Amino acid sequence: MSADRDLILHEMGLGPLWRLRVPQDAAELASSPIVAGAADALPSTTRVADAGADWESLAASVRDCRKCGLCVARKQAVLGVGDIKADWLFVGEGPGAEEDQRGEPFVGQAGKLLDNMLAAIGLRRGNDVYIANAVKCRPPENRTPDAEEMAACRSFLERQIALIRPKLIVALGRPAAQTLLESEVKIAAARGRVHAYQGIPLVVTYHPAYLLRNLPDKAKAWEDLCHMRRVMRELKGG
Ligand code: URA
Ligand code: SF4
Repeated sequence: MSADRDLILHEMGLGPLWRLRVPQDAAELASSPIVAGAADALPSTTRVADAGADWESLAASVRDCRKCGLCVARKQAVLGVGDIKADWLFVGEGPGAEEDQRGEPFVGQAGKLLDNMLAAIGLRRGNDVYIANAVKCRPPENRTPDAEEMAACRSFLERQIALIRPKLIVALGRPAAQTLLESEVKIAAARGRVHAYQGIPLVVTYHPAYLLRNLPDKAKAWEDLCHMRRVMRELKGG
């Protein structure tokens, strides 16, 4: 178990630093189920069809959507992936090249880090976790989606949240936080607190792609992971 944890933290480029700063939480994690190699067990996005008519019609609407300019260059729209009854909903920004190609969110480099972040708090893609994006189509050159594009796509995310009814939403990065909270958000100021999206508790943290470029902030992301795990425990009644 502890070897797994060391491996995960090593992959995140942060093992010793994280353990030094938060010994209590690290010790706690030693007793939690840590799952390595989460990417091996990816559920198929076709699972959305299992959920019945609502998911089917949502998936069809997203697949055929032309509500914003991002429809032009996409290979395919990427609705989301995971457990449609999940307590945890993670929301990123928008598909990148690999996601556009494969039709699943967070399958590139940032996705690998996200999987490792999930594993560090005993979570795993598809198992009580659903992963979606603020926009469902890839912005060209991986630019940040603009306000109009996010507004055009927002109803799909709203519908996903209404269907999943997660206990906790985690906004990964500023665009996701801003579209969900409908306000200006600075991650540094907003992290570590519990916000709400239509009555559902919501926390914000750094986007994994940002963390890949800004190693020092990984320590803060670790704090955020511990925070969100505490929040979930409280939501589940301790
Ligand atoms: N970054 C995101 O925000 N979402 C993805 O699906 C992949 C990378
Ligand atoms: Fe439609 Fe959203 Fe794709 Fe724009 S990004 S075309 S709103 S699915």
